Amino acid sequence: MRRVELAGTGVGSSVLGFGCAGLFSLPRARDRMAVLETAYDSGFRHFDVAPMYGLGLAEAELGALLRRHPGEITVATKFGIGLTPWGRAAGWLQAPVRSALRARPGVQRTVRRSGQGPTSGWVGRLLYASVGFSPGAARRSLERSLRALGLASIDVLLLHDPTAVPPDQADALLEFLTRQRDRGTIRTWGATGPGRGLPGVPRRLAEAAPVIQFRDDPLGPESPAPAGGRPATITFGALGGSLPILKSVIERDPERVARLSARLGADLRRSGTLADLLLRCAMARNSGGVVLFSSSRPERVRRAALAAEEEPTRGAAEEAVVLRELASLASEAGP
Ligand SMILES: NC(=O)c1ccc[n+]([C@@H]2O[C@H](COP(=O)([O-])OP(=O)(O)OC[C@H]3O[C@@H](n4cnc5c(N)ncnc54)[C@H](OP(=O)(O)O)[C@@H]3O)[C@@H](O)[C@H]2O)c1
Repeated sequence: MRRVELAGTGVGSSVLGFGCAGLFSLPRARDRMAVLETAYDSGFRHFDVAPMYGLGLAEAELGALLRRHPGEITVATKFGIGLTPWGRAAGWLQAPVRSALRARPGVQRTVRRSGQGPTSGWVGRLLYASVGFSPGAARRSLERSLRALGLASIDVLLLHDPTAVPPDQADALLEFLTRQRDRGTIRTWGATGPGRGLPGVPRRLAEAAPVIQFRDDPLGPESPAPAGGRPATITFGALGGSLPILKSVIERDPERVARLSARLGADLRRSGTLADLLLRCAMARNSGGVVLFSSSRPERVRRAALAAEEEPTRGAAEEAVVLRELASLASEAGP
Protein backbone atom coordinates (compact mmCIF):
# COMPACT_ATOMS: atom_id res chain seq x y z
CA MET A 1 0.00 0.00 0.00
CA ARG A 2 1.13 3.54 -0.76
CA ARG A 3 2.98 5.25 2.09
CA VAL A 4 2.78 8.76 3.48
CA GLU A 5 4.73 10.64 6.08
CA LEU A 6 2.76 12.38 8.80
CA ALA A 7 4.02 15.82 7.81
CA GLY A 8 6.78 17.20 9.94
CA THR A 9 6.83 14.28 12.40
CA GLY A 10 9.18 11.78 10.77
CA VAL A 11 6.50 9.10 11.28
CA GLY A 12 5.78 7.14 8.12
CA SER A 13 2.62 5.12 7.54
CA SER A 14 0.41 3.47 4.95
CA VAL A 15 -2.29 5.77 3.51
CA LEU A 16 -4.97 3.68 5.17
CA GLY A 17 -4.71 2.96 8.88
CA PHE A 18 -6.56 0.14 10.60
CA GLY A 19 -8.80 1.13 13.54
CA CYS A 20 -9.08 -1.37 16.38
CA ALA A 21 -12.20 0.08 18.09
CA GLY A 22 -14.70 -2.28 16.47
CA LEU A 23 -12.60 -5.42 16.54
CA PHE A 24 -14.10 -6.74 19.76
CA SER A 25 -17.49 -7.12 18.10
CA LEU A 26 -15.86 -10.46 17.26
CA PRO A 27 -16.11 -12.48 20.47
CA ARG A 28 -13.21 -14.89 19.70
CA ALA A 29 -9.59 -13.78 20.04
CA ARG A 30 -8.47 -15.92 17.11
CA ASP A 31 -10.99 -14.24 14.77
CA ARG A 32 -9.76 -10.82 15.91
CA MET A 33 -6.16 -11.83 15.28
CA ALA A 34 -7.13 -13.12 11.81
CA VAL A 35 -8.54 -9.66 11.00
CA LEU A 36 -5.39 -7.92 12.27
CA GLU A 37 -3.17 -10.28 10.28
CA THR A 38 -5.31 -9.74 7.17
CA ALA A 39 -4.87 -5.99 7.59
CA TYR A 40 -1.11 -6.45 7.87
CA ASP A 41 -0.99 -8.80 4.85
CA SER A 42 -3.07 -6.33 2.82
CA GLY A 43 -0.54 -3.57 3.43
CA PHE A 44 -1.94 -1.67 6.43
CA ARG A 45 1.07 -0.39 8.38
CA HIS A 46 -0.66 2.00 10.78
CA PHE A 47 -2.91 0.79 13.59
CA ASP A 48 -5.06 3.00 15.81
CA VAL A 49 -5.94 1.86 19.32
CA ALA A 50 -6.76 3.27 22.76
CA PRO A 51 -6.65 2.05 26.36
CA MET A 52 -10.47 1.89 26.38
CA TYR A 53 -10.84 -0.20 23.18
CA GLY A 54 -11.88 -3.80 23.69
CA LEU A 55 -12.67 -2.84 27.29
CA GLY A 56 -8.97 -2.61 28.03
CA LEU A 57 -7.79 -5.62 26.01
CA ALA A 58 -7.22 -4.21 22.51
CA GLU A 59 -3.73 -2.83 23.12
CA ALA A 60 -2.46 -6.21 24.33
CA GLU A 61 -3.94 -8.01 21.30
CA LEU A 62 -2.40 -5.48 18.95
CA GLY A 63 0.86 -6.04 20.86
CA ALA A 64 0.78 -9.69 19.75
CA LEU A 65 0.65 -8.56 16.09
CA LEU A 66 3.50 -6.09 16.68
CA ARG A 67 5.70 -8.84 18.13
CA ARG A 68 5.24 -10.86 14.93
CA HIS A 69 6.21 -7.89 12.72
CA PRO A 70 8.72 -5.93 14.79
CA GLY A 71 9.56 -2.43 13.58
CA GLU A 72 7.18 -2.56 10.61
CA ILE A 73 4.03 -0.99 12.03
CA THR A 74 3.30 2.47 13.38
CA VAL A 75 0.92 2.68 16.33
CA ALA A 76 -1.24 5.52 17.54
CA THR A 77 -2.70 5.17 21.00
CA LYS A 78 -4.39 7.67 23.27
CA PHE A 79 -4.81 8.90 26.81
CA GLY A 80 -7.56 10.67 28.70
CA ILE A 81 -10.32 8.06 28.74
CA GLY A 82 -10.03 5.01 30.96
CA LEU A 83 -12.25 2.27 32.31
CA THR A 84 -14.40 2.35 35.42
CA PRO A 85 -14.13 -0.67 37.77
CA TRP A 86 -17.28 -1.96 36.00
CA GLY A 87 -15.57 -1.50 32.65
CA ARG A 88 -12.52 -3.47 33.78
CA ALA A 89 -14.66 -6.31 35.10
CA ALA A 90 -16.72 -6.28 31.88
CA GLY A 91 -13.47 -6.62 29.91
CA TRP A 92 -12.98 -10.14 31.23
CA LEU A 93 -16.62 -11.13 30.80
CA GLN A 94 -17.18 -9.60 27.39
CA ALA A 95 -16.96 -12.69 25.13
CA PRO A 96 -20.31 -14.30 26.11
CA VAL A 97 -22.06 -10.90 26.26
CA ARG A 98 -20.77 -9.98 22.80
CA SER A 99 -21.84 -13.38 21.42
CA ALA A 100 -25.34 -12.83 22.80
CA LEU A 101 -25.45 -9.31 21.31
CA ARG A 102 -24.44 -10.58 17.86
CA ALA A 103 -27.56 -12.72 17.87
CA ARG A 104 -29.66 -9.55 18.44
CA PRO A 105 -28.45 -6.91 15.94
CA GLY A 106 -31.02 -4.28 17.07
CA VAL A 107 -29.91 -4.47 20.72
CA GLN A 108 -26.27 -4.63 19.59
CA ARG A 109 -26.68 -1.35 17.67
CA THR A 110 -28.29 0.39 20.67
CA VAL A 111 -25.61 -0.83 23.08
CA ARG A 112 -22.86 0.15 20.62
CA ARG A 113 -24.25 3.68 20.22
CA SER A 114 -24.68 4.12 23.95
CA GLY A 115 -21.25 2.62 24.71
CA GLN A 116 -19.02 4.71 22.44
CA GLY A 117 -17.51 6.81 25.21
CA PRO A 118 -18.03 8.23 28.69
CA THR A 119 -20.65 10.73 27.46
CA SER A 120 -22.46 8.73 24.77
CA GLY A 121 -25.14 7.14 26.95
CA TRP A 122 -25.74 4.98 30.01
CA VAL A 123 -23.55 2.10 28.76
CA GLY A 124 -20.65 4.51 28.20
CA ARG A 125 -21.12 6.10 31.62
CA LEU A 126 -21.06 2.68 33.26
CA LEU A 127 -17.92 1.47 31.47
CA TYR A 128 -15.71 4.50 30.79
CA ALA A 129 -14.46 7.48 32.73
CA SER A 130 -12.44 10.50 31.81
CA VAL A 131 -9.12 10.31 33.66
CA GLY A 132 -8.17 13.86 32.73
CA PHE A 133 -5.15 15.36 31.01
CA SER A 134 -2.78 16.12 33.85
CA PRO A 135 0.86 15.12 33.24
CA GLY A 136 0.49 12.49 35.99
CA ALA A 137 -2.53 10.86 34.32
CA ALA A 138 -0.76 11.03 30.95
CA ARG A 139 2.38 9.36 32.37
CA ARG A 140 0.42 6.52 34.03
CA SER A 141 -1.55 5.89 30.86
CA LEU A 142 1.56 5.99 28.64
CA GLU A 143 3.38 3.51 30.90
CA ARG A 144 0.39 1.13 30.81
CA SER A 145 0.12 1.42 27.00
CA LEU A 146 3.85 0.73 26.50
CA ARG A 147 3.55 -2.39 28.66
CA ALA A 148 0.37 -3.63 26.98
CA LEU A 149 1.72 -3.06 23.46
CA GLY A 150 5.16 -4.44 24.35
CA LEU A 151 6.86 -1.35 22.91
CA ALA A 152 9.64 0.96 24.08
CA SER A 153 8.18 3.85 22.10
CA ILE A 154 4.70 4.88 20.89
CA ASP A 155 4.69 6.46 17.42
CA VAL A 156 1.73 8.80 17.99
CA LEU A 157 0.28 9.54 21.44
CA LEU A 158 -3.06 11.34 21.20
CA LEU A 159 -5.12 13.26 23.76
CA HIS A 160 -8.37 11.31 23.51
CA ASP A 161 -11.32 13.63 22.79
CA PRO A 162 -10.36 16.32 25.30
CA THR A 163 -13.60 18.10 26.18
CA ALA A 164 -11.77 20.41 28.55
CA VAL A 165 -8.13 20.76 29.47
CA PRO A 166 -7.72 23.46 32.14
CA PRO A 167 -5.46 26.16 30.67
CA ASP A 168 -3.11 25.92 33.67
CA GLN A 169 -2.60 22.22 32.85
CA ALA A 170 -1.81 22.87 29.21
CA ASP A 171 1.74 24.13 29.79
CA ALA A 172 2.62 21.26 32.14
CA LEU A 173 1.19 18.76 29.67
CA LEU A 174 3.07 20.31 26.78
CA GLU A 175 6.27 20.08 28.80
CA PHE A 176 5.54 16.43 29.64
CA LEU A 177 4.92 15.55 25.97
CA THR A 178 8.05 17.35 24.81
CA ARG A 179 10.11 15.53 27.44
CA GLN A 180 8.71 12.14 26.37
CA ARG A 181 9.53 12.94 22.76
CA ASP A 182 13.09 13.91 23.71
CA ARG A 183 13.45 10.68 25.67
CA GLY A 184 12.05 8.62 22.80
CA THR A 185 9.10 7.10 24.69
CA ILE A 186 6.90 8.77 22.08
CA ARG A 187 7.82 9.86 18.55
CA THR A 188 5.10 12.47 18.19
CA TRP A 189 1.80 13.49 19.78
CA GLY A 190 -1.51 15.05 18.90
CA ALA A 191 -5.18 15.33 19.81
CA THR A 192 -8.43 13.78 18.61
CA GLY A 193 -11.83 15.37 18.27
CA PRO A 194 -15.13 15.46 16.44
CA GLY A 195 -13.76 18.02 13.99
CA ARG A 196 -10.53 19.65 12.95
CA GLY A 197 -11.07 22.56 15.38
CA LEU A 198 -10.24 20.49 18.52
CA PRO A 199 -12.81 22.05 20.86
CA GLY A 200 -11.74 21.70 24.49
CA VAL A 201 -8.04 21.93 23.77
CA PRO A 202 -6.52 25.20 24.95
CA ARG A 203 -5.28 27.21 22.01
CA ARG A 204 -1.63 26.90 23.00
CA LEU A 205 -1.85 23.11 23.04
CA ALA A 206 -3.95 22.93 19.86
CA GLU A 207 -1.50 25.12 17.97
CA ALA A 208 1.47 23.06 19.17
CA ALA A 209 -0.06 19.65 18.28
CA PRO A 210 1.98 18.07 15.46
CA VAL A 211 -0.91 15.67 14.64
CA ILE A 212 -4.69 16.02 14.72
CA GLN A 213 -7.09 13.15 14.32
CA PHE A 214 -10.72 13.99 13.62
CA ARG A 215 -13.99 12.75 12.14
CA ASP A 216 -14.37 13.60 8.46
CA ASP A 217 -17.54 12.31 6.85
CA PRO A 218 -16.98 12.34 3.07
CA LEU A 219 -20.51 13.70 2.58
CA GLY A 220 -20.10 16.48 5.12
CA PRO A 221 -18.57 19.93 4.65
CA GLU A 222 -14.78 20.04 4.69
CA SER A 223 -13.55 21.71 7.84
CA PRO A 224 -11.15 24.56 7.13
CA ALA A 225 -7.49 24.13 8.01
CA PRO A 226 -6.35 26.11 11.06
CA ALA A 227 -4.85 29.49 10.28
CA GLY A 228 -1.58 28.86 12.15
CA GLY A 229 0.43 25.66 11.90
CA ARG A 230 -0.18 22.79 9.51
CA PRO A 231 -0.50 19.68 11.61
CA ALA A 232 -0.43 16.22 10.07
CA THR A 233 -3.96 14.87 9.75
CA ILE A 234 -5.49 11.48 10.46
CA THR A 235 -9.20 11.18 9.71
CA PHE A 236 -11.86 8.63 10.60
CA GLY A 237 -15.60 8.18 9.96
CA ALA A 238 -15.33 7.51 6.20
CA LEU A 239 -17.95 4.76 6.20
CA GLY A 240 -19.76 4.51 9.50
CA GLY A 241 -21.94 7.61 9.07
CA SER A 242 -22.68 7.76 5.35
CA LEU A 243 -22.74 4.18 4.16
CA PRO A 244 -26.08 3.15 5.73
CA ILE A 245 -27.72 6.37 4.43
CA LEU A 246 -26.44 5.87 0.88
CA LYS A 247 -27.41 2.20 0.92
CA SER A 248 -30.99 3.12 1.71
CA VAL A 249 -31.04 5.54 -1.28
CA ILE A 250 -29.79 2.79 -3.57
CA GLU A 251 -32.71 0.61 -2.56
CA ARG A 252 -35.27 3.44 -2.89
CA ASP A 253 -34.43 4.92 -6.28
CA PRO A 254 -33.20 2.22 -8.68
CA GLU A 255 -33.63 4.26 -11.89
CA ARG A 256 -31.53 7.24 -10.87
CA VAL A 257 -29.01 4.90 -9.31
CA ALA A 258 -28.72 3.03 -12.63
CA ARG A 259 -27.99 6.37 -14.38
CA LEU A 260 -25.37 7.28 -11.77
CA SER A 261 -23.80 3.81 -12.08
CA ALA A 262 -23.46 4.31 -15.85
CA ARG A 263 -21.84 7.68 -15.23
CA LEU A 264 -19.44 6.11 -12.74
CA GLY A 265 -18.61 3.06 -14.84
CA ALA A 266 -19.31 0.84 -11.82
CA ASP A 267 -22.49 -0.71 -10.49
CA LEU A 268 -23.50 1.10 -7.31
CA ARG A 269 -25.81 -1.75 -6.36
CA ARG A 270 -22.92 -4.20 -6.17
CA SER A 271 -21.76 -4.90 -2.66
CA GLY A 272 -18.63 -2.93 -1.86
CA THR A 273 -18.85 -0.27 -4.62
CA LEU A 274 -20.19 2.42 -2.27
CA ALA A 275 -17.62 1.65 0.42
CA ASP A 276 -14.81 1.89 -2.18
CA LEU A 277 -16.16 5.25 -3.31
CA LEU A 278 -16.44 6.67 0.20
CA LEU A 279 -12.96 5.52 1.14
CA ARG A 280 -11.37 7.04 -1.96
CA CYS A 281 -13.30 10.27 -1.36
CA ALA A 282 -12.04 10.36 2.26
CA MET A 283 -8.50 9.80 0.98
CA ALA A 284 -8.84 12.62 -1.57
CA ARG A 285 -10.05 14.96 1.22
CA ASN A 286 -7.08 14.00 3.37
CA SER A 287 -4.41 13.65 0.71
CA GLY A 288 -1.03 13.53 2.40
CA GLY A 289 -2.59 12.24 5.64
CA VAL A 290 -3.86 8.89 6.91
CA VAL A 291 -7.47 7.69 6.68
CA LEU A 292 -8.61 5.18 9.29
CA PHE A 293 -10.77 2.26 8.26
CA SER A 294 -12.17 -0.60 10.27
CA SER A 295 -13.97 -3.83 9.65
CA SER A 296 -14.42 -7.08 11.47
CA ARG A 297 -14.53 -8.97 8.15
CA PRO A 298 -11.27 -10.02 6.48
CA GLU A 299 -12.74 -9.82 2.96
CA ARG A 300 -13.73 -6.18 3.53
CA VAL A 301 -10.27 -5.38 4.88
CA ARG A 302 -8.68 -6.82 1.72
CA ARG A 303 -11.11 -4.93 -0.47
CA ALA A 304 -10.44 -1.61 1.28
CA ALA A 305 -6.72 -2.03 0.64
CA LEU A 306 -7.40 -2.65 -3.06
CA ALA A 307 -9.78 0.33 -3.27
CA ALA A 308 -7.07 2.55 -1.82
CA GLU A 309 -4.72 1.60 -4.65
CA GLU A 310 -7.21 1.51 -7.52
CA GLU A 311 -7.55 4.32 -10.05
CA PRO A 312 -11.25 5.31 -10.32
CA THR A 313 -12.71 4.20 -13.69
CA ARG A 314 -13.92 7.70 -14.61
CA GLY A 315 -11.64 9.73 -12.37
CA ALA A 316 -11.77 11.05 -8.81
CA ALA A 317 -13.72 14.18 -9.76
CA GLU A 318 -16.52 12.10 -11.30
CA GLU A 319 -16.64 9.90 -8.19
CA ALA A 320 -17.04 13.00 -6.02
CA VAL A 321 -19.89 14.28 -8.25
CA VAL A 322 -21.72 10.93 -8.05
CA LEU A 323 -21.34 10.86 -4.27
CA ARG A 324 -22.75 14.39 -4.01
CA GLU A 325 -25.72 13.42 -6.18
CA LEU A 326 -26.37 10.35 -4.05
CA ALA A 327 -26.18 12.52 -0.95
CA SER A 328 -28.70 14.94 -2.41
CA LEU A 329 -31.02 12.01 -3.22
CA ALA A 330 -30.68 10.99 0.43
CA SER A 331 -31.59 14.46 1.69
CA GLU A 332 -34.55 14.67 -0.77
CA ALA A 333 -35.84 11.40 0.65
CA GLY A 334 -35.48 12.68 4.24
CA PRO A 335 -34.75 10.59 7.31
N1 LIG B 1 -11.63 9.89 18.86
C1 LIG B 1 -10.99 9.16 17.98
O1 LIG B 1 -9.80 9.31 17.76
C2 LIG B 1 -11.73 8.10 17.22
C3 LIG B 1 -13.12 8.09 17.15
C4 LIG B 1 -13.74 7.12 16.38
C5 LIG B 1 -12.97 6.18 15.70
N2 LIG B 1 -11.62 6.22 15.81
C6 LIG B 1 -10.77 5.22 15.14
O2 LIG B 1 -11.15 5.12 13.79
C7 LIG B 1 -11.38 3.74 13.48
C8 LIG B 1 -12.37 3.64 12.37
O3 LIG B 1 -13.61 4.13 12.87
P1 LIG B 1 -14.62 4.74 11.86
O4 LIG B 1 -15.72 5.33 12.61
O5 LIG B 1 -13.85 5.59 10.90
O6 LIG B 1 -15.10 3.43 11.11
P2 LIG B 1 -15.42 3.30 9.55
O7 LIG B 1 -14.26 2.62 8.92
O8 LIG B 1 -15.96 4.57 9.01
O9 LIG B 1 -16.65 2.30 9.61
C9 LIG B 1 -16.54 1.07 10.19
C10 LIG B 1 -17.86 0.36 9.92
O10 LIG B 1 -18.00 0.18 8.52
C11 LIG B 1 -18.35 -1.17 8.24
N3 LIG B 1 -17.76 -1.54 6.96
C12 LIG B 1 -16.45 -1.60 6.65
N4 LIG B 1 -16.28 -1.97 5.35
C13 LIG B 1 -17.53 -2.13 4.84
C14 LIG B 1 -18.03 -2.52 3.58
N5 LIG B 1 -17.23 -2.81 2.54
N6 LIG B 1 -19.37 -2.58 3.42
C15 LIG B 1 -20.20 -2.31 4.45
N7 LIG B 1 -19.79 -1.95 5.68
C16 LIG B 1 -18.46 -1.86 5.87
C17 LIG B 1 -17.82 -1.98 9.40
O11 LIG B 1 -18.66 -3.07 9.65
P3 LIG B 1 -18.06 -4.58 9.64
O12 LIG B 1 -17.18 -4.69 10.86
O13 LIG B 1 -19.30 -5.43 9.72
O14 LIG B 1 -17.32 -4.73 8.36
C18 LIG B 1 -17.88 -1.00 10.57
O15 LIG B 1 -19.12 -1.11 11.23
C19 LIG B 1 -11.81 3.14 14.79
O16 LIG B 1 -11.65 1.73 14.81
C20 LIG B 1 -10.90 3.84 15.75
O17 LIG B 1 -9.64 3.20 15.76
C21 LIG B 1 -10.98 7.17 16.53
